[in-house]
Amino acid sequence: MLQPLFTPEEIKSAVERLAQEIQRDCQGKTPLLLGILKGSFIFLADLIRNLDMPLEVEFAALSSYGRGRKESSGKVKMAPGIHTSLKGRHVLVIEDIVDTGLTLSFLLEYLQRKKPASLKVCALFDKASRRQVPVPIDYLGFSIPDAFVVGYSLDYDEKFRHLPGLYFLKEGS
Ligand code: IMP
Ligand code: MG
Repeated sequence: MLQPLFTPEEIKSAVERLAQEIQRDCQGKTPLLLGILKGSFIFLADLIRNLDMPLEVEFAALSSYGRGRKESSGKVKMAPGIHTSLKGRHVLVIEDIVDTGLTLSFLLEYLQRKKPASLKVCALFDKASRRQVPVPIDYLGFSIPDAFVVGYSLDYDEKFRHLPGLYFLKEGS
């Protein structure tokens, strides 16, 4: 069963606000926006259409869930690695949701080794009460309660990514 949490309009205004914050902080720079697949593809697409500035886009595929799981397995995989040079770049990681923080802390460590000029994080949703490892979030859309959510490119077992709003996924669906 799906229970609405945020409407498409609410998400749209949060994305616009985040774009303004990023644009203000990135003046005179050409940031590299690194979208974490697959959960951030709609967020990244909407975000960059609100950014009126020079920027580049890259993607990284990273996962810690097996199919049909609602919990991180804790074993984060990166496949394949990022081949674009990040040395001296202003890298902005675009993440759909931060939960335990395991994915992001693994990724940030990996990226830091590539010697970027700066490394920041933009996440649309944050389930802070579930954090197992601390991670910095420089730009945040919404803090949400500890419940599984789908829509706006977040999935459960690869389903529901196409929903334009965000929904709680309750048992029995
Ligand atoms: P973490 O490593 O536990 O922080 O998990 C982060 C990743 O798990 C996110 O990038 C999402 O892909 C996925 N995830 C965490 N919570 C949810 C959720 O409520 N719905 C869908 N995906 C989620
Ligand atoms: Mg993700």
